[in-house]
Amino acid sequence: MTHILDGKMVAAKVKKEVAETLKANGLHASLAVVLVGDDPASHIYVEHKNKDCEECGVFCRTHWMDGNFKQDFVANYVQSLARNNDIDGILVQLPLPEHMNAAKVLAEIPPEKDVDCFTTANIGRLYSGDAFLKPCTPAGVMRLLDEYGIPLSGKHCVVIGRSNVVGKPMAQLLLDENATVTVCHSKTENLRDICRSADVLIAAAGNPGLVTRDMVKDGAVIVDVGMNRNADGKLCGDCTREAYEVSRFYTPVPGGVGPMTRAMLMQNVMMAAANRRGLDLNYKGEN
Ligand code: GUN
Repeated sequence: MTHILDGKMVAAKVKKEVAETLKANGLHASLAVVLVGDDPASHIYVEHKNKDCEECGVFCRTHWMDGNFKQDFVANYVQSLARNNDIDGILVQLPLPEHMNAAKVLAEIPPEKDVDCFTTANIGRLYSGDAFLKPCTPAGVMRLLDEYGIPLSGKHCVVIGRSNVVGKPMAQLLLDENATVTVCHSKTENLRDICRSADVLIAAAGNPGLVTRDMVKDGAVIVDVGMNRNADGKLCGDCTREAYEVSRFYTPVPGGVGPMTRAMLMQNVMMAAANRRGLDLNYKGEN
């Protein structure tokens, strides 16, 4: 019998916690979102972030910039947000237009306002066991697994995907919980057998249908981070329906990891705001 890991439900719980914690502490948190250009998907993501902020009582302002602007202009603008004492968190929506070097723009975000955990300083802290703001998707997966009491200590967790945003930090957070972690990627040989030995299989390859039934151990937990469109234009993950069916728990797409990512962003904005004011929130997700 398989069950879903209901990211929508847990995300609503996290956002409620954030709203209540902000209120209880009289904390006013604010997020600046920088959106460059007209990428339709980015516009939708940013709308969602605005809505999440509204739900949590976080002040959010989107700074839209023309996609033809020069990289230096955008970088200088981010620098001005960095200096603005009223702003707790800065998020530069990716992808940036092709003529821009994203790393150069992101480098203007100070670590204490880096709610995506994209800066070198915050990534370094994460990998040295001193995480401050954690990357939203991996942190969301961890919270979801925790909510459902999925044991990780000593378990074999297989992560498919080695991106800086999901695969690598995911592996680190699992290691921090004493899991035995294998990271697989497009060059991995014998992917099927490695996946078959996973107690927890985290698919973050961005490849629809990659994980099939024969790659999943009976009763394993599947976390599907994939966010793809199938031939009919419908949203789907990296795993087939048949793969989900042999699992004990799986995250649906949509309604699994996606809402958790958004909820963890709200948590990070709150943490950044508290940190900047030297406030100890005594909050569950606090490091
Ligand atoms: N584009 C798609 N997902 C994300 C995200 O989580 N953060 C940022 N900054 N850009 C994105």
